[in-house]
Amino acid sequence: MQDLFSLTGKTAVVTGGSRGIGAMIARGLVGSGVKTYITARREEELRATEAALGELGECIAIPADLSDEQGLKQFAGEIRERENALHILFNNAGASWGAPIDEFPEAGWDKVMDLNVKSIFFLTQALLAPLRAAGTVDDPARVVNIGSINGLTYAPLQNYSYTASKAAVHNLTRQMAVDLASDHINVNAIAPGFFPSKMTAHLLEHEGELAKDIPRGRLGTPEDAAGTAIYLCSRASAFVTGHVLVLDGGQTAA
Ligand SMILES: NC(=O)c1ccc[n+]([C@@H]2O[C@H](COP(=O)([O-])OP(=O)(O)OC[C@H]3O[C@@H](n4cnc5c(N)ncnc54)[C@H](OP(=O)(O)O)[C@@H]3O)[C@@H](O)[C@H]2O)c1
Repeated sequence: MQDLFSLTGKTAVVTGGSRGIGAMIARGLVGSGVKTYITARREEELRATEAALGELGECIAIPADLSDEQGLKQFAGEIRERENALHILFNNAGASWGAPIDEFPEAGWDKVMDLNVKSIFFLTQALLAPLRAAGTVDDPARVVNIGSINGLTYAPLQNYSYTASKAAVHNLTRQMAVDLASDHINVNAIAPGFFPSKMTAHLLEHEGELAKDIPRGRLGTPEDAAGTAIYLCSRASAFVTGHVLVLDGGQTAA
């Protein structure tokens, strides 16, 4: 019982690990003794995060564009070459697009669905061999997809493709969880509410107003993201699969 939340010795990939929620999760994993690969497109920011997290443990940056088929295949190939077993995959990288309904362009669907939905499926598919190699009956490998409360409820943001993409992430999570359960791979999703990040920067000038809609009275913190991530990757959650864990300070419930 003592080691229920221990992650020591595991290996993880966190997509979109250069900043925001991905960096919060990567920090929690590295600090828990997990060898953690992070990926994003912008190399400078990614290397800066690699250096910062390297102070806590083992963090390795591999730049990649996951919305591009070639970029995704190359990244997955590099992970497979380096690691026979992968215990944890966080499909966190995501993008958004907002525009009035009369003007919302097709490009705003392609960009968002390619990254938020398709890349989750294809990266998981490409990493199934090392995930299968890592999973055991007692402690399965973990795939954690980052959804959103936008995929559960209405948000007045005119982000049509984003909201649809996150609902898709939640149901893709359930389907993959059932299909991969016998391979000892758990698949869950986290549906975050508001966390300060580049994606939400345009909303943060109204932070006080946003917090009023959140029963806990505040936005999410790095500890909130890391704590949930650690739970979903540890022995403590080995019986949890196909679940969408809402991490929003009670906003959806309210
Ligand atoms: N912040 C919130 O309140 C909130 C709420 C609900 C859900 N979420 C979800 O949480 C996840 C992280 O969001 P965030 O708020 O942390 O956003 P963010 O600060 O914009 O971070 C997004 C991350 O994804 C990477 N990324 C973007 N496009 C990529 C691509 N094509 N290939 C590889 N990496 C790519 C970014 O790096 P590069 O730009 O360098 O590629 C960055 O590392 C997303 O899935 C988002 O939908 C966030």
